[in-house]
Parts: sequence; C-alpha cells; structure tokens
Amino acid sequence: MKKNNFFLFAALALQLAACNNGDTVKEKETAILTAKAGITEKPFGTFEGKPVIEYAITNASGMQVCIINYGGAISRITTPDNKGEMGDVVLGFDNLDGFLQKGNPYFGGLIGRYGNRIAKATFSLDGKQYTLAANNGVNALHGGNKGYDKVYWNIEKQAGDSSLKLTYTSPDGEEGYPGTLKMEVIYTLTSANELKIEYTANTDKATPVNLTSHAYFNLSAGADSTILGHELMMKAAQYTPVDSTLIPTGKIDAVAGGPMDFNTPKLIGRDIANVPGGYDHNWVLSRSGSGLELAARLVHPGSGRVMEVYTTEPGLQFYSGNFLDGTLTNTKGGKKYVWHGALCLETQHFPDSPNQPSFPSTLLKPGETYHHTCVYKFSTQQ
Ligand code: GLA
Repeated sequence: MKKNNFFLFAALALQLAACNNGDTVKEKETAILTAKAGITEKPFGTFEGKPVIEYAITNASGMQVCIINYGGAISRITTPDNKGEMGDVVLGFDNLDGFLQKGNPYFGGLIGRYGNRIAKATFSLDGKQYTLAANNGVNALHGGNKGYDKVYWNIEKQAGDSSLKLTYTSPDGEEGYPGTLKMEVIYTLTSANELKIEYTANTDKATPVNLTSHAYFNLSAGADSTILGHELMMKAAQYTPVDSTLIPTGKIDAVAGGPMDFNTPKLIGRDIANVPGGYDHNWVLSRSGSGLELAARLVHPGSGRVMEVYTTEPGLQFYSGNFLDGTLTNTKGGKKYVWHGALCLETQHFPDSPNQPSFPSTLLKPGETYHHTCVYKFSTQQ
C-alpha cells in the first residue's frame, strides 16, 4: 500500500472504530480528513446537571484513548494489531446510559477512596472506628455505594495535546471516609503507545487511600468472546490468599508453580478451572525498588497485540471477569459481555490493608502526598 493510502486507510479505520459512533457519514468524512494527533471533544450526555464530554486523545501513530467526565472513565482504547488494523481493546458502552446502569461493573472507572475490599466495611484509625457502606456482602468494595467511578470529574486539556488532567475533591465523610481528599489524575497518551495514569492526592485528616483504574481489557478487540486464550505473565512470586468473601486471610503465599504462578507466561485458561470462582486476587509484585517497574505482560496471540503494565505500586489485582454474565445493556455495538469476556489488571495496594497491620500501609496523613503511576504500554508481535 502506498504511504498516503496507508495513512488514509489508518485514519478511516480509526474513525470508524473510534469515538464517533452514531455520527453521520458526512461528519465521518470530515473527521477522516482532519484525523491527526491531538485531543478532540464530543458531547456524551449530562450527569447531575453537568455536561459529560468524551475526550479523544490521538497520537501520531493513530492510537487513541477516550476518557469521559463520568467516573473519569476510560471509554475506549484503540490500538493496532500486528497487521496495522485498529481495534478497541476495552469493554464499555455506546452512551452514558450504559455507564449509569445498575450493575455497571466499574467499566474503565477511576476507583477510590479505597479500591478493592475492606473487611466487614469497617476500620479503626487513631482509636476511632469508621463505618463504610457494606456494598459487597458484608464488605466494602471500591469506595462504597458512590465511589469515584460514579462521580463527576473535571477535565482540563493540558499543553502538548496528549494529556488530560482530571480533578475531584472528595468531601470529609464521603462514603464514611475521614478527611477531604483532593485528587488529581493525569492521563497521557505517549508517542510510544503508552497510556500513562498518574495519581496524586492530599488530605486534611489521616485517611486510607488506594486509587486504581478498572479498565476491562480484551486485546482481541471483539474477535474472541473471552480472554481465556490470552497469555499472561505477572512478575510476582507471591500472592495474598483470600477467604470465601475475597478478603485476604493475612497470609502471603508463594505462587510456587501452581495455578497462581504466572512468572512464566501461560494461557489464562490453562489453570483457571483449579481456581474456585476464577482469578480475583492480589499478586505481591516482585519489585526491586519503589520506581516504575514492569508488573505484567499480556499477549493476544491471534492479533499479536501486547500490553505491558508498569507500576509504582506493590500489588496487582488480576480479575478474570468472573462476574460478567452477558446481561449488561447499551454495550458497544450491542456486544454480549460474557463470563471471562475481559480482564482487569489493577495496580494497587493490597486489599483490606487498613485492617491488616502486616501489609504495606495505605494511610495518607495531612502534609503527605499520595503518588501512584501506572502505565499500560501497547505494542505488537508476530
Ligand atoms: C474487582 C473485584 C471483583 C469484582 C470486580 C467488579 O476487580 O476484585 O471481585 O467486584 O471488581 O465486578
């Protein structure tokens, strides 16, 4: 294919696959002619009286990431396969109603104040007991009934046209957590096809903080209904075993060649039948320091798409989409999101840390700054 034709083809594929569903053919043609690196905006509905915009960041090679104000959610990630064909590799919805539906399992959302579970929805701090909403059986999950995936995030485009700055201030006592938490999340799409997520937060009272992102990946971009044929590597010699309600027992076990061992890449479907309920655990990353380090590598052999995960955090929750059951509505293109239809790789601190004195602390005190960086890097292999 001639170079110019290639670019036109790439732009066409991008626009057809990307954030412009529902536009007229004429609008699409205009979009094709203007497709270039930068940030575009498209109305996506209204939430609590405020406009929800879908921001699309496109880089020079045509990769695109879309973010919405509702939940600060990643609504789309379009990356090339090993033949250069673009495809959307995250689950999501065609419209805001999809995101707002009861039972939306946190698609793409920013999660907090405490991502993952807190046992019996309670913790003690400085001699005081705090009670949270028990929104997952008796436990608290992902920040409560209205976690940060269900609030309106302000979004500002940043100089350089490749980053968005999202801000949200969580009031003192929101969902039972102490202290006003001021947060900033920066999403950047780099020229090296990396989606970088940088979190910072400050508080005016001591509070537990564990922020993460809940994107559901399926690198086949719709070709495979499940992720059982994806190959996963996780750099972790240990994990935190859980009880029947998915609360860590407090032990740290070696993966030791068993079903939880992903140090050597293996198909997710290989051992999953030996893990009751499927994978939904926190791995203790084998780290050499506190900087950004490789945590996981995911490959979809059919398309050759590869995603590497880098983080500054000590843990990684690998969730194999065990609760997806095909019942969500307003899904992209009406697709059925079935059992194991996608997976999450959530960089984080360990679940239930506020009640587990042996785990790394998640306590943020006034005067300190919470920092967390996560990079999802996309590439291909033959
Ligand atoms: C997390 C949890 C899972 C599940 C999903 C959302 O990853 O660990 O148990 O609650 O979120 O459905």
